[in-house]
Amino acid sequence: MTQPNINMDHHWLPFTPNRSFKQDPRVFVAADGMHFTTHDGKEVLDGISSLWCVTAGHNRKPINEAIKKQLDTLDYATAFQASNDQAFKAAEMIANMAPGDLNRVLFCSSGSEAADTSLKVALAYHRARGEGHRNVFIGRERGYHGVGFGGMSVGGIPANRKAYGTALLPRVDHMQFIHDPVNHAYIHNREPVWQEDILLELENRILPLHDASNIAAVIVEPVAGSAGWYLPPQGYLKRLREICDKHGILLIFDEVITGFGRMGVNFGADYYGVVPDMLNFAKGVTNGVIPLGGVICTDRIYNAMMKANEGAPDHAIEFFHGYTYSGHPVACAAAIATLTLFKEEKLFERAGQMGTLLGDAMHSGLKGLPNVIGIRSLGLAGAVEMAPIAGAPGKRAYDVFMTCFHNGVLVRSAGENIVLCPPFIVEKEHIDRMVNVLADAIRQHA
Ligand SMILES: Cc1ncc(COP(=O)(O)O)c(C=O)c1O
Repeated sequence: MTQPNINMDHHWLPFTPNRSFKQDPRVFVAADGMHFTTHDGKEVLDGISSLWCVTAGHNRKPINEAIKKQLDTLDYATAFQASNDQAFKAAEMIANMAPGDLNRVLFCSSGSEAADTSLKVALAYHRARGEGHRNVFIGRERGYHGVGFGGMSVGGIPANRKAYGTALLPRVDHMQFIHDPVNHAYIHNREPVWQEDILLELENRILPLHDASNIAAVIVEPVAGSAGWYLPPQGYLKRLREICDKHGILLIFDEVITGFGRMGVNFGADYYGVVPDMLNFAKGVTNGVIPLGGVICTDRIYNAMMKANEGAPDHAIEFFHGYTYSGHPVACAAAIATLTLFKEEKLFERAGQMGTLLGDAMHSGLKGLPNVIGIRSLGLAGAVEMAPIAGAPGKRAYDVFMTCFHNGVLVRSAGENIVLCPPFIVEKEHIDRMVNVLADAIRQHA
């Protein structure tokens, strides 16, 4: 790719090999529908909804118009001790979409903030009920909950954690990973059925080790997204819910990826028929156009926090937490327009239907190619796993990603996986193109 006519010295790119990026820059300057335009005028198909965000496709007029209108009406208002109309409306829409009594929305601006917010709610809730000793968190190996210290601590991706030593939260444990590469290497629109009950580890080792009465919350992604679209065993989340209930432990679903339609329904919680105590969201809630995240809490949690302040003076704050941009009016206006668009265009149903096509195409087009050792698809997402190159973990997937990019398709490399998770407006011809370009790249790097 040609060098763009911009000074690239000062922007330190996140989660990116900066040195090699500068040798071969990938700079987008425009986007519409399913495609980007690069600085040198090439068209690139967005095969990953711009990191699981742009689910309704790029440059959607109703969202853009809502943002422009909001800017001209109320650009910003302080979030503390006052609020704005858009935040209340967006919270109502989100609560109405969420299952069970998940009715109280704490806004923030990202998935990382949502993770840390949910962990703080868990501690504050237990303390409000007189169980302040509950301060252990349980995450899962290869879980991803963003880059704040809380989310990183409960997260289980080694590279994200290794530099931070004792700065990570001390009272955290991790459940074992959920993938069986022998029996469920290839799986499409099905829940993997395990002979072994992998939650026995939680019941028999982790809970007794910390004593269940000390555990504040368990946090999991319903489907492990960032690590490479790994599906939970059949019944896993229901059983996790039962174990948490039995021991008074809160269950947090991190639905930053699975929320808002990726599974063909509102949330992963709906797909699996399990209602958590808190549900974290971000990304797709605004179609990625403006940062917005949040935690949907149950009435039970909210009421307990209010009750603990009964008798306190009028000016007493019940939860000392929040961000300057919690419920930003422009972000909330974007969310309202996005959620309305999802509904009007029935985009979640479409995600479910196109997901079947995506999975079919991935399994028929990629299975059997050199170094392919697994393909997992569910909802509108799929991952192809490749054998690692000895001594160079992640290199094969990265090389495949780069080749796909040069051939006009943006895919995502995650460890040894290549993930496809296109916008819900994807057409069959886009799916065929993504899979063909990916297949050629995999062959090229055999
Ligand atoms: C499940 C999950 N949680 C949290 C995050 C962090 O979100 P953000 O990058 O907006 O902080 C991500 C981002 O990919 C995610 O996939």
